[in-house]
Amino acid sequence: MNHHPTAAFPALRLRRPRASAWSRAMVAETTLSPTDLIWPLFITEGKGVETPIATLPGVSRWSVDRVVERAREAKALGIPCLAFFPNTPPEKRSDDGAEALNPDNLMCRAIRAVKDAVPDIGILTDVALDPYTSHGHDGLTDAAGYVLNDETTEQLVLQALVQAAAGADIVAPSDMMDGRVAAIRAGLEANGHRNVQIMAYAAKYASAFYGPFRDAVGSGGLLKGDKRGYQMDPANAEEALREVALDLAEGADSVMVKPGLPYLDIVRRVKERFAVPVFAYQVSGEYAMIEAAVAAGAGDRDALVLETLMAFRRAGCSGVLTYHAAHAARLLG
Ligand code: PBG
Repeated sequence: MNHHPTAAFPALRLRRPRASAWSRAMVAETTLSPTDLIWPLFITEGKGVETPIATLPGVSRWSVDRVVERAREAKALGIPCLAFFPNTPPEKRSDDGAEALNPDNLMCRAIRAVKDAVPDIGILTDVALDPYTSHGHDGLTDAAGYVLNDETTEQLVLQALVQAAAGADIVAPSDMMDGRVAAIRAGLEANGHRNVQIMAYAAKYASAFYGPFRDAVGSGGLLKGDKRGYQMDPANAEEALREVALDLAEGADSVMVKPGLPYLDIVRRVKERFAVPVFAYQVSGEYAMIEAAVAAGAGDRDALVLETLMAFRRAGCSGVLTYHAAHAARLLG
């Protein structure tokens, strides 16, 4: 493409098409609509329960019956997909995270309830053990606290199968174990879940932006050490491309970059290199930053939300997981 203008000022005035709203709309290179949004929801035990999360102002944990309400709301707003994260009661957490494999755990009950009430909405489930372990790590650990790759992967396959059996449409491994996409794909194929998709958290960084999420699922206070032994170093971009290449070769239908805004360079490189559906997770700390800016009078929420979401689209995202999904869909509707 030739970006060198053949005319110069004043024949060429780039401000001309910006002069009116209809014209700006006509030349816009990128679109943003509710169908670009995936809404993460936190699930808690009980009935009729809404528990606000202090570090995520405006976001709550919902009991299963109220998750169903959120699903109806999302459907009406044109949001195509929900992402579920359980806040497992402390007494059900264990070293090995066995509750992840319980077909009647909070996650599975929520999937079944929503599939029953709102069949035509996608459900994405996180595959990782951290909401279920007593140490807050995404996998099984050895005596020294090292997260064991292959043993964890075996558990993740079983977890994904339990979620798929409950009705999950997309399983999203967020654990960063090597080889888990292939193992989960094989498990799904062998168990009659041919059309269950895998969205791989392919480039997931060891980030300081996950704090409020860990409060929301109740793993933050429990976490021993950090996740740098399995999540990626924020210094690395080439490595993200290798992660994506591997996950695609292993059968991922789509890939995710996480966090979002600080990693838009990764989104762009992945999109250009692989031309596959790329999603970004605008994570809890990013949401909290916007809300803190709004609370401090430093910006307008609606404008900040729509601008950041458009930036994800411009960078190459097919869609964005965002806690602002319902609000943004309302603004766009
Ligand atoms: C767990 C998981 C995390 C997030 C999504 N899945 C946290 C972590 O890796 O510690 C973070 C999402 C957010 O911060 O909004 N495997």
